Amino acid sequence: MAAPTPLTYSALDPRGWRLAMGLRPLAPEHWLEVDANRDAELARKSDLLARERSTVLAITGEGEDACRELLEEVTASLRRYHPGVAVEVDESEHPLVAASRLVQEDLCVLERHDEWRLVAACVCFPSRWSLAEKIGTSLDAIHSPVPGYDESLAAPTRKVFDRLEPDRSFWRLNWTLLDNADLFQPAVARVPGESAPEDWFFRVERQTIRRLARSRAIVFTIRTYVSALSSLLGDEEFTENLLRALRSAPPATREYKGWGDIAERLAQRTGR
Ligand code: HEM
Repeated sequence: MAAPTPLTYSALDPRGWRLAMGLRPLAPEHWLEVDANRDAELARKSDLLARERSTVLAITGEGEDACRELLEEVTASLRRYHPGVAVEVDESEHPLVAASRLVQEDLCVLERHDEWRLVAACVCFPSRWSLAEKIGTSLDAIHSPVPGYDESLAAPTRKVFDRLEPDRSFWRLNWTLLDNADLFQPAVARVPGESAPEDWFFRVERQTIRRLARSRAIVFTIRTYVSALSSLLGDEEFTENLLRALRSAPPATREYKGWGDIAERLAQRTGR
């Protein structure tokens, strides 16, 4: 497993907990991110693709053109914006798997049929959700466990997907706290551990949405960064913002996130 990295994206809103789309414009050169954990994370992907294939890979047979186009886009982007990175494509593999083996991101392909549906995905680093349960389903169904999504995010998200064009991509952040640093967390369990706050981890997902020009499919990438909370608690501003977010999150969100009483324990530990 790759070592937990220092904080790459804080993701905390200083105003407290907010359920928001939070989309920001994405420049092409920032679509994919490469860092020192690349070799370790790609090795982990390779291992998961061998041992846990049905957990991390879902291919419906739809979206085949889009997967080929995605592989072309991934190789072109790496060659252009990350020239130091080795780009060796195994032509015998499904293009989604070949693309996934080149990047630290998880890759999801969505197509507009009656609704936007997840038609192919390689997700080696899920944050406690099951790809098998989501494949083939709509954006709304995918997000059904997320408190507040239906009321405040479903309609705007659908609209953004319908209007997305290849020259205007976006990125956003999600964050959570987990009592385990493993990148591969397919379990749906929301039961919090009893471990001390110092043994928890701040997990940030940097997500991008991008429309492919030829197939008109949408690619959703998820890049996961994990930092040990113990390494972040010395930062006053971070700790203040984290506590504010944990305290102001609605009970349903806290339960969904599996936070248990981490806010109270963290407050006690930091004397706030
Ligand atoms: C702009 C688009 C999107 C927005 C605003 C959005 C928003 C969210 C939010 C707020 C959550 C809750 C996560 C948390 O608080 O920890 C979530 C969870 C999730 N999202 Fe999205 N999302 C978007 C696109 C997508 C797409 C395209 C996929 C396709 C795979 C996806 C898959 C998921 C999954 C699998 C979960 C976890 C659901 C569960 O716990 O069962 N999201 N999303």
